[in-house]
Amino acid sequence: MIEIKEVSKHYSGQRKVINRLNLTIPDGKIVGFLGPNGAGKSTTIKMMTGVLPIDEGVITLDGNDIEKKPLEAKRIIGYVPDRPDLFLRLKGLEYLNFIADIYDVPKEVRQERIERITKQFSIYNSLDDYIQSYSHGMRQKIIVTGVLLHDPSIWILDEPLTGLDPKSAYILKEMMREHANKGKTVFFSSHGLEVVEQLCDEVAIINNGELLFYGTLEDMKETYKSDQSLEQVFLELTSNE
Ligand SMILES: Nc1ncnc2c1ncn2[C@@H]1O[C@H](COP(=O)(O)OP(=O)(O)O)[C@@H](O)[C@H]1O
Ligand SMILES: [Mg+2]
Repeated sequence: MIEIKEVSKHYSGQRKVINRLNLTIPDGKIVGFLGPNGAGKSTTIKMMTGVLPIDEGVITLDGNDIEKKPLEAKRIIGYVPDRPDLFLRLKGLEYLNFIADIYDVPKEVRQERIERITKQFSIYNSLDDYIQSYSHGMRQKIIVTGVLLHDPSIWILDEPLTGLDPKSAYILKEMMREHANKGKTVFFSSHGLEVVEQLCDEVAIINNGELLFYGTLEDMKETYKSDQSLEQVFLELTSNE
């Protein structure tokens, strides 16, 4: 479970980009974080994962405060950032072994998982190549593989489907569903509506750093006019500036 309480954030010399955000992400569900470009999705996710400091408020991950207990919190999360351009000077397999070392994944377990997941993603044959030579989608897939190596209880993904080919996108969606079905937490951001409509149990809609809606798609249809699509509601909610 992720709890965000009264969280605000501004970048130096700017107005607040996140304003007193409150959000609780339950276990066992896929929750989509939806908002237009610049809404504050990545900023929120970076605070959740300890990449950026929080100005005001508290974020806990399975009860661990990300600022007070960063190691405990980080141990249980798997984070897929929006830009997968990391560790470009490592070979794919070196990167995965590095991650497995950090998270103490035993040798046999890591071998089985690396082989299974990279074969699913069709990057198994590229593991001896430098990540520098990988395409955007391949870089994303190697990071997702790294995240799944240690089977984190909380999975946080920032625009994970952007740039993936249809087969890889399908596999990743299946993985997210499996993860949620095991009772774990899956939280991912998207500026695209179809995938959210198709995949999510619940959605949080944010704009200008403020939460506009949180609930199931059915709740949303009840709250707004029942005949409206997610697209219509989204456009109405986010158009009032
Ligand atoms: N490093 C930064 N420095 C200054 N402003 C930033 C920085 N990163 C993001 N912003 C601003 O914060 C707001 C929210 O950005 P972001 O969280 O990246 O939105 P999203 O991920 O929803 O597209 C935007 O107005 C953006 O311009
Ligand atoms: Mg973003």
